[in-house]
Amino acid sequence: MQRKNFYITTPIYYPSGKPHMGHAYSSIIADVIARFKRLEGYDVHFLTGTDEHGLKIEREAKKNQKDTKTFCNELSKKFNELTKILNLTNDDFIRTTEKRHFKSVENLWSKLVSSGDIYLDKYKGWYSVSDEAYYDNDEIEEIDGIKVSKSSGSKVEWVEEESYFFKLSSWSEKLLDFYKTNPNFILPLSRKNEVIKFVQKGLNDLSVSRTSFSWGIPVPKNQKHVIYVWLDALTNYLSALDYPDTSSKLYKKFWPADIHIIGKDILRFHAIYWPAFLMAANIPLPKRVYGHGWILSNEKKMSKSIGNILDPIEIIKDYGIDQLRYYLLKEVSLGNDGNISLDNLKKCINNDLANNYGNLCQRVFSFIKKNCENKLPKSKIKPSMVENKLTGKIKDELKNLIDLVNNQDLNNYIKKVIEYSFDANKFFNDSEPWSLKKTDSVKMNSILNTIVVQIKNISILLLPIIPASANKVLDMINYENEFRSISHIRKDNNFNYDKELGEIEILFKKVE
Ligand code: MSP
Repeated sequence: MQRKNFYITTPIYYPSGKPHMGHAYSSIIADVIARFKRLEGYDVHFLTGTDEHGLKIEREAKKNQKDTKTFCNELSKKFNELTKILNLTNDDFIRTTEKRHFKSVENLWSKLVSSGDIYLDKYKGWYSVSDEAYYDNDEIEEIDGIKVSKSSGSKVEWVEEESYFFKLSSWSEKLLDFYKTNPNFILPLSRKNEVIKFVQKGLNDLSVSRTSFSWGIPVPKNQKHVIYVWLDALTNYLSALDYPDTSSKLYKKFWPADIHIIGKDILRFHAIYWPAFLMAANIPLPKRVYGHGWILSNEKKMSKSIGNILDPIEIIKDYGIDQLRYYLLKEVSLGNDGNISLDNLKKCINNDLANNYGNLCQRVFSFIKKNCENKLPKSKIKPSMVENKLTGKIKDELKNLIDLVNNQDLNNYIKKVIEYSFDANKFFNDSEPWSLKKTDSVKMNSILNTIVVQIKNISILLLPIIPASANKVLDMINYENEFRSISHIRKDNNFNYDKELGEIEILFKKVE
């Protein structure tokens, strides 16, 4: 059977400061989807990296009294380390300061020049260095005498300089057509409507080069200019597949991207500029852009000045990575903003992980250890109706579960899976295998088989979310690696009955 391919990306991060929870959130979402697709049998390419050019980085390096390249090297390394701390399965980590990326951006630029989509003029208008974005007059407001962007609240400055422009205005209609014929290109729906409204107002041409600083990729044949950091950054998705070598294995296999996971603040770049650049260069468009919401702390967007920043690395040290991954995805509905707090993290760890899934595994395995010589007992009878009902539910709902992930509804996916675990705990209580040991060991074995099947299936479904813990559970029951896939949810005959269960470890410590 031919392997199915899947290309997924996170935004590439500005290495302008310490990684924060928002970065962790974007990355974890993409990792969960990447892992799930692999479990579904897809050949996945998962990309993340750092976005290192532009005025923001140049200024930040200066502020830190570092040479810009050294500054980027140090911070990019921190982001790369974060991928390990978050247990990401990214296949590549791209840096926009790499040679392969320069080549790719220069090529895309030249294509846009050849297609007649780039011209030289003068830019006069507002620019936010923090957002690396241009804003129109009606997108600006004045707060305490300072001009800021209405949407992001970040300070804008007036810019007047020679600039190359991309003829974005001529792509409005084609973009609207594209959104219409590809109704799932921008998700969630609320975001799509936002974008459509914006494009319907008519688009201005976009300034795509700067002359007042030099930290960027020089414009081919006019080195006075550097390419606008967003045109540079977006192209990373192609650079990582060896573009402009469109005959390369990676490019042929993975382009167009299946999904770009991004935060809602960078939707305009991904859902308007990026498809317009690609159309103009005659390159196929990605299939989906998913704009997730904001992680809030104390109901507010995290910021240094408010002092409500939750540091992912500290939290992972204190509570564990699976715990954080689970909590973020369970607590925040992907398309919306969601508040997170340490109190709720603790509640979630105790209720869902320690008392529910962790407890289920622990008590079942301890029971087997004590009563069945620490080996899964074989069942000699057919499962009862109650047992079939328990294990049948996941199988019956499997298609729906797969659809939830493929529609990026991770929140409801998790809720379903943890419900199965709750049901399994209840089944174990209600069927009281401990009372059957002396009276009906045949029945007891059947119950144990059923519950272990259920633990196996719940653990497979949890693998993308809490990979370390779910793998540990599957290790404990000696469930082979090659069977850890979605298709094995329907197969219950791959257990090892001869080998003793592995060491029973506490999976999730309760927290005060
Ligand atoms: N460099 C650009 C992306 C270029 S992609 C071609 C960028 N970088 S960023 O480091 O500022 O942000 C990276 C991601 O983190 C974005 O998706 C952004 O939305 C996300 N988040 C940053 N803070 C966030 C929250 N508080 N909550 C959720 N995600 C947010 O943008």
